[in-house]
Amino acid sequence: MKAGVIGFPISHSKSPLIHGYWLRRYTITGTYEPIEIHPDAFEQGVEDLIERGLDGFNVTIPHKENIIGLCHQIDDTARILGAVNTVVIKDKKLYGQNTDGFGFIENIKSAQPKFDFTHKNAVVLGAGGAARAIIHALDKAGVHKIILTNRTQTRAENLKELSDKIEICAWENRMEALAGCDLLVNTTSLGMTGKPGLELDLGALPASALVNDIVYAPLMTPLLSAAQAQGNNIVTGIGMLLHQARPAFAAWTGVMPEVDDKIMAEVLA
Ligand code: ATR
Repeated sequence: MKAGVIGFPISHSKSPLIHGYWLRRYTITGTYEPIEIHPDAFEQGVEDLIERGLDGFNVTIPHKENIIGLCHQIDDTARILGAVNTVVIKDKKLYGQNTDGFGFIENIKSAQPKFDFTHKNAVVLGAGGAARAIIHALDKAGVHKIILTNRTQTRAENLKELSDKIEICAWENRMEALAGCDLLVNTTSLGMTGKPGLELDLGALPASALVNDIVYAPLMTPLLSAAQAQGNNIVTGIGMLLHQARPAFAAWTGVMPEVDDKIMAEVLA
């Protein structure tokens, strides 16, 4: 396998660690490198990867949207989200996919195997790129309703095209959205190390609700700690990052890798 991740900057990416681990774990010969491509030299930078004979690459900020224009074909999810995070190169042609929603769903399924998405009421905090992927995935997974709340309401309104199950709730009233909630997901950066905390009183949240935060630094965010303290089941965010990487590795090597405790520990270290 010859692959990598493109972005600008790229030094922070955990993807080389994840794919490097799987190459060793499954004794597959190959390389996975961080590749910095400046936005001003984007097309040439991607052209170089094709010429070098890569099997594919992951795409991160700021190239997730622009790569679409260079793809021969993209899958339905990438088209709906307007973003590609995984590219497979075949016969010098680029095939784009978006695996973020897969990562989100698989993380919850593997942490809470008994949780069934169908007919559930989800509350999603935030309306950025991560929220887009998650809302689309929740809709496909068969939830009943998605209550969406975001500080900037117009950004939430813009996501309505993704699903007819979305109900917008004003950010000031987010506490009230928790009544009847089965699954609460934080997709905002609030609670991340160095960012303000998420101010949310969980008093109205049913005891049966599952709480997931996509923030994984720290792993136990204030939201997850508060939810756990009042007896709710929680799912941490690190698994989404790991699970979204699996289909890419599978496409390049033919081996669908597992997320084990060792890779989780390495990424968190
Ligand atoms: P990503 O693509 O990773 O989801 P993003 O597009 O920057 O990142 O989105 C970050 C999310 O965190 C947004 O929903 C943002 O709310 P706004 O749309 O109002 O900006 C939310 N967010 C960030 N800082 C926040 C804060 N201090 N209070 C409330 N929401 C915040």
